[in-house]
Amino acid sequence: MKKPYIIANWKMNMDGSAIDRFFSHFQPTASMIRKAHIIICPSFVAISDVQTKAEKGLSIGAQNCFWEARGAYTGEVSARQLADSGCKYVIIGHSERRRIFSEDDAMINKKLQIALQYKLSPILCLGETFEEKEAGQTKQVVSEKVSRALHEIPLPEAKNIIIAYEPIWAISSNPRNTSHQADSPEEAQVVHKLIRHTVKEICNEQIAASMPIIYGGSIRSENAAGFAAMEDIGGVLVGSASRDGEEFQKIIELFIA
Ligand code: PGA
Repeated sequence: MKKPYIIANWKMNMDGSAIDRFFSHFQPTASMIRKAHIIICPSFVAISDVQTKAEKGLSIGAQNCFWEARGAYTGEVSARQLADSGCKYVIIGHSERRRIFSEDDAMINKKLQIALQYKLSPILCLGETFEEKEAGQTKQVVSEKVSRALHEIPLPEAKNIIIAYEPIWAISSNPRNTSHQADSPEEAQVVHKLIRHTVKEICNEQIAASMPIIYGGSIRSENAAGFAAMEDIGGVLVGSASRDGEEFQKIIELFIA
């Protein structure tokens, strides 16, 4: 079995005392660190704090970056700055950024290109809305998002991308998803397989076979095992449950069991 990716997306949460609390409960063993890629994505301002508190062997990711390396872009943070501050990963194209900040596939493609240029591994998020799912458009929407995001990405760099399939309707903060309902592992597996097939068409078989494709949307310790058992699901992107150190640790344990 490949080493799973377990990624915490803290979003715009977690101040200093909450981070202290997290690390007082989150104490991964050496075997967990060896068996899983554990990545924490805090807010930009907490990156250095997390770096000092995190166990050796954990990686840090950012939640966004801009598509230029430097310049007059007030309020933005570049991939170059993230790499310089010790980040190894960056989330790109999260549905909250697509919806609230109107990020489109062309912007996401530019962000992927610059992240790869600065040797960050992008965690490319994509998924369908509730309406698209209801209309039977999941496959079409997802494969189009993959194709547009990967447009003209050089093959040697594409192998550093992680794709996170996050059905928008299954994200716990989605106002429609009051019961925090995740997708079913079986349905998610079908979409993961489709994503792998799309990557194969755009890149090649080798890149498709090795690319980590992970699931995100209302993952908790109660439902993580079902996703861990699926052939094409190589890990999880965890939002709200990742802010509780104990809960996050349980999710990792389930993936390496
Ligand atoms: P959730 O968030 O686990 O709280 O559903 C996942 C995400 O938005 O990445």
